[in-house]
Amino acid sequence: MSIRVIEQVRAMQAWADKVRREGKRIGLVPTMGCLHEGHLSLIRLARKRTDVVVVSIFVNPTQFGPTEDFEKYPRTFDRDQELVEQAGGEIIFAPGVEEMYPPGFDTSVTVARLTKGLCGASRPGHFRGVTTVVTKLLCAAKPHVAVFGQKDFQQAAVIRRMVRDLNLDVEIVTAPIVREADGLAMSSRNAYLSPKERRDARVLFQSLEKGEKMVRDGEREASEIIAAMKTEIEAKPAARIDYVAVVDAETLEPVTHLKGRALVALAVWIGKTRLIDNVVLEEK
Ligand code: PAJ
Repeated sequence: MSIRVIEQVRAMQAWADKVRREGKRIGLVPTMGCLHEGHLSLIRLARKRTDVVVVSIFVNPTQFGPTEDFEKYPRTFDRDQELVEQAGGEIIFAPGVEEMYPPGFDTSVTVARLTKGLCGASRPGHFRGVTTVVTKLLCAAKPHVAVFGQKDFQQAAVIRRMVRDLNLDVEIVTAPIVREADGLAMSSRNAYLSPKERRDARVLFQSLEKGEKMVRDGEREASEIIAAMKTEIEAKPAARIDYVAVVDAETLEPVTHLKGRALVALAVWIGKTRLIDNVVLEEK
């Protein structure tokens, strides 16, 4: 079976309508391409939950800030096509920018409170771009299930909130973070790193492990955990902290004293590349 590429929203919808009439369940995995094992794990999970999987590949301009990397974001479509096929995807939905945002486009979807902190604070407008494009992708592919990675924990939380608030008829499933052998979370942006930066980038996961260990050893004060993690990160000359935060895993509001499910999340610049990572801590 070879993969089919659909570029038009109307054709995507017609395909989805037909598949739904046949009684099959559709899974959607939204991506910006440059696929790696993290994306492929989502495709496999979607395939387990549904009969046919659509992988969207669209580098969405509206979620990039004016000084961000939209132009140079890696695009590897031919390779992505092979990987989607190997992972069990059936359709690639790859619309052009004009197809998604035709002249006169004037609507956006905003989730208010959950997008205030963490990445929302340092990337104004980012989540509005994400929620708007994900709404459009859901309307195009009409999935029963859509799969997102915990790597972008805040993004998954924001999308769940949006789906609940707007009564969108889709189940949102989240999948664990896939890491390189040394712990670095897989990301399309890792391709930007020089060999030296790639080594320094390990500090994201190392500092999260440090935070985790402190909690295992009994530490409960968020400020202590954050301070120790920051010290570890700042020891790397190439690293510049955007944020290190301990928040409630549901509300994403900062916590001072750990209890319940907490998220330790960070964003760190390694040279000119901004990387994110997180761990969820369960207080028993
Ligand atoms: P992108 O960064 O390509 O990621 C697509 C999906 O893959 C997201 O759900 C992300 O959380 C997941 N993912 C990325 N790295 C992962 C890893 N190491 N382990 C597990 N999952 C991982 O996120 C986006 O694209 C865009 O914002 C999008 C949702 C497509 C909207 O444009």
